[in-house]
Formats: sequence, C-alpha cells, structure tokens
Amino acid sequence: MTTAGTTLVIGATGTTGSRTAARLTAAGHRVKAASRNATPVAGAEPVPFDWYDPATHTAALDGVDRVYLIPPLGEADPAAVMLPFLRQARTMGVHRAVLLSSSAIPQGGPAVGEVHQALPELFEQWAVLRPSWFMQNFTGTHAHAVSIRTEGVIWTAAESGRVGFVDAEDIAAVAVRALTDEQAPDTDLVITGPEALGHDDIARIVTEVTGRTVVHRRLSYEQMRDRLAAQLPVEFAAILAGMDRAIAEGAEDRVTDTVQRLTGRPAHTFRAVLARETRRDG
Ligand SMILES: NC(=O)c1ccc[n+]([C@@H]2O[C@H](COP(=O)([O-])OP(=O)(O)OC[C@H]3O[C@@H](n4cnc5c(N)ncnc54)[C@H](OP(=O)(O)O)[C@@H]3O)[C@@H](O)[C@H]2O)c1
Repeated sequence: MTTAGTTLVIGATGTTGSRTAARLTAAGHRVKAASRNATPVAGAEPVPFDWYDPATHTAALDGVDRVYLIPPLGEADPAAVMLPFLRQARTMGVHRAVLLSSSAIPQGGPAVGEVHQALPELFEQWAVLRPSWFMQNFTGTHAHAVSIRTEGVIWTAAESGRVGFVDAEDIAAVAVRALTDEQAPDTDLVITGPEALGHDDIARIVTEVTGRTVVHRRLSYEQMRDRLAAQLPVEFAAILAGMDRAIAEGAEDRVTDTVQRLTGRPAHTFRAVLARETRRDG
C-alpha cells in the first residue's frame, strides 16, 4: 500500500534523482524536482535549489512532506551543509527522508555517514540507501564510460576485486518504495545488482554487447590517484583511489536481496542494463 504526498527530489537532474522523479510522477505522485537551474523534469514541478544557497531552501520545501536527498557532491563535511536544511525541513512538515549514501560508508562513518547517523533522530520515517557502485559508471558521462569510448580501456586500482554493481533504475525503484510505502523502511538498505563482477568481467561484457574491444588495465593505488588528480582535487582523487584499493581487498564483494525484497522483482544484470542503455544512446 502506498501513501500520497509531495516529494522534493534533490538532484532531480542526476543519475538516481532523475529516475526517482520519473518513477514517482509515472505512478501519479506529486514531485518538486530540485536542481540549481530548476531544470524541467517531465510531470514534476521544477524548483531552484542549491545546497549552498539557503535562500532557495524555504520555497523548495513549501508544501512538501517527504524528501529524496543527494548530498552536496565533493563536499568534505556534508553534515554541516545538510543538517540545517534537514532541521528546517522537519519544522516545515517533512516527516519522511530518504538519503542516498553508499555501500562504502557506514552509519556514523565519514562524510555522509554523519547525516545517516542523524536521520532517525530528525524524522519519524526514514531510509538510507547504500548502493554499491553504479552500472551507469560504464555508460553515459562517467570517467569509465569516457575512457571506454575514447581508449577502449577501463583503468582501475581494483585489481581482481569484485563489486555488486547495481542499476540506477533499481536504486530508483527502491527509492520510490522507501518514499511511498505506507511503512517506511526506517533502516539502511545496502543495494546491489544480482551478481558481483570484477572489472575484467565488465570489460568482457562491454565487448560482447557493443562489439567493440574493451580491456581492463590494472593500475597501482598511486597511479590511479595521480590519474584522477589530473581532473579532481588531489584529496578527492586519493579517496576514490582508496575506494578502488578497498575493492581489491574484497570490500564490495557481496550481493543483497534488497531490490527483490522491496520491488518484488529481481535486480537487473549488467548485460541487460548495457543492452538497454546502448539502445537508448543509439
Ligand atoms: N557512482 C557510483 O558508483 C556511486 C555509488 C554509490 C553511491 N554514489 C553516490 O551517489 C551520489 C551522487 O548521486 P547521483 O549519481 O544520483 O547524482 P549525480 O548524477 O552525480 O548528479 C548530481 C545531482 O546533484 C545536483 N547538484 C549538484 N550540485 C548541487 C548543489 N550545489 N546544490 C543542489 N544540487 C546540486 C545536480 O543538479 P544540477 O547540476 O542540475 O544542479 C545533479 O542533479 C554521490 O553522493 C555518490 O557518493 C555513487
């Protein structure tokens, strides 16, 4: 059973927010789609929203009773930016919050883990989505997708470590359940795809589905950090390279039944997602 209401979707132009907003409006729910330029999103009311501009927060929250939260990207201390907004949201009548975190970040852990820690104290109904790495990192505009297209190479320091890669559509489907089911999850949910794959497997499947040869090239932690630092602040590059190292050590080698349990259908395979997204791009 689902409940009615108006959801503020933050990051409504992004990978998970756009899919969450689309699924909510398709199911007949009211959505305010938040992004810095109030970009139109089909079926939703676009609203300007910037984490760093509190003047945008009151209008975005007006008439809203639930929120989907993407943290400010690249922010070292997301709690400092997000908690004042979340307190205001509660004061203005928001009773349910669904936060996008990551399988790599535990409750109370660094960065958005602090917001995770605070969520149950702020909202009577809540969920923290902790997806593994997105399958969409290999499609669209992510760095892996770009190097696949331009060089036929996936560069990582993940060695042969396996990851429960997950479809962003499956994350959105879980988000919709968490936002609209009469009973909120009131817990964190580690979300994965149906199987754990290494980057060699990813390269092989991309090759098979697209017909273009793609290989996985192994870098050391330092090589990966320096490669990323050409495009990102060095501290952030070090964090991302460290995540690859954690994958090499087995930190992401797991699958969960969250998608099946919340949506009633199995999680999509990487092969199926790639075929779907390749058709969409072509
Ligand atoms: N990629 C992965 O494998 C992976 C795995 C697990 C977890 N995650 C987590 O996923 C999160 C990213 O979520 P996503 O992929 O759905 O988003 P995304 O595609 O990275 O898009 C970011 C969204 O945030 C908006 N945005 C950017 N700066 C903003 C600001 N200052 N104020 C308000 N909105 C702002 C952007 O909209 P505008 O630019 O239009 O304003 C956009 O809609 C990160 O926290 C990451 O840790 C990623």
